[in-house]
Amino acid sequence: MRRPLFLYVFLFYWHFLNALFTVEAPQSLCVVERGNNVTMECTFPVNGKLEFRNLSVSWEKKDESKQVYELHKGEEDFKNQHSDFRGRIKLLKENLNLGQSLLQITDVKLRDAGVYRCVIVYGGADYKTIHLKVKAPYRIINQGVVSTGRNEWKLTCHSEGYPEAEVIWRNKNYEDLTHKANTRSETASDQLYRVTSTLTIKSGIDEIFYCIFWNKELQENTTAILHIADSTDGILQTESRRFVGAALIATAFVGSVLLFLLCIRKGLQVILTGCKRTVDNPASTRIYLP
Ligand SMILES: *[C@@H]1O[C@H](CO)[C@@H](O)[C@H](O)[C@H]1NC(C)=O
Ligand SMILES: *[C@@H]1O[C@H](CO)[C@@H](O)[C@H](O)[C@H]1NC(C)=O
Repeated sequence: MRRPLFLYVFLFYWHFLNALFTVEAPQSLCVVERGNNVTMECTFPVNGKLEFRNLSVSWEKKDESKQVYELHKGEEDFKNQHSDFRGRIKLLKENLNLGQSLLQITDVKLRDAGVYRCVIVYGGADYKTIHLKVKAPYRIINQGVVSTGRNEWKLTCHSEGYPEAEVIWRNKNYEDLTHKANTRSETASDQLYRVTSTLTIKSGIDEIFYCIFWNKELQENTTAILHIADSTDGILQTESRRFVGAALIATAFVGSVLLFLLCIRKGLQVILTGCKRTVDNPASTRIYLP
């Protein structure tokens, strides 16, 4: 098996040539939502026309020493690519001519999170590292309201996301009822947390309760409204959906205003370079600022 490119660089080139040949990572932190595509970028100097057969590029996941992508002397080589990445990796080759090594990962998984190292050998040799963070917001909350006796109700909220969320319960006066609730979480597929919280409470008809999924690490809250009514679950479901819809529209609006202000302040090219979510569906675009 061939020695990993990184070692090769380190042993033979790096000490001697690193002053002459410099790889840069315009954005050393990328945040992407699970299921989306992401493009990470390293740049290197190309003087004149690119000589493909003198170029070697490699992307490795540093913390686990997994090979993600390798181009050896102008030839792509997938032999040692780790199975985690199979079929989800593309290097945008036309950009190499511009001195950009752009690695695209499609359908990002939670386990893709970590530190990536891009190594480039082209005359000289150098590398940079990029930290990829993957998030999974608790976007949709499923809810249930069941009568368990006279004026007693069992309220349930359920959602999936990452990292683990806390669930906070409040009544219509915004009093904290969390201490009366029972919250448990289990791991679902791809490291997702499946969080279920139940509140059993005495209440009359026509009361409102809130369950709030608090994703502390992402500083994100998602709220569902539970309405205790005479009729059955159908009404409750639509109300929850409407709330989520309104929240999404509000988020999109605030996002575009922020983006607009930022464009004015920094000039558009700042946002368009570096790591980006590769967008196919503009309706769900969200911008994550470092
Ligand atoms: C989310 O809700 C919790 C509890 O109500 C609150 O302490 C926290 O500040 C909220 N975070 C955001 C980002 O709104
Ligand atoms: C990610 O990229 C793939 C292939 O280019 C495309 O089919 C897919 O729709 C993209 N997904 C998103 C969420 O943009």
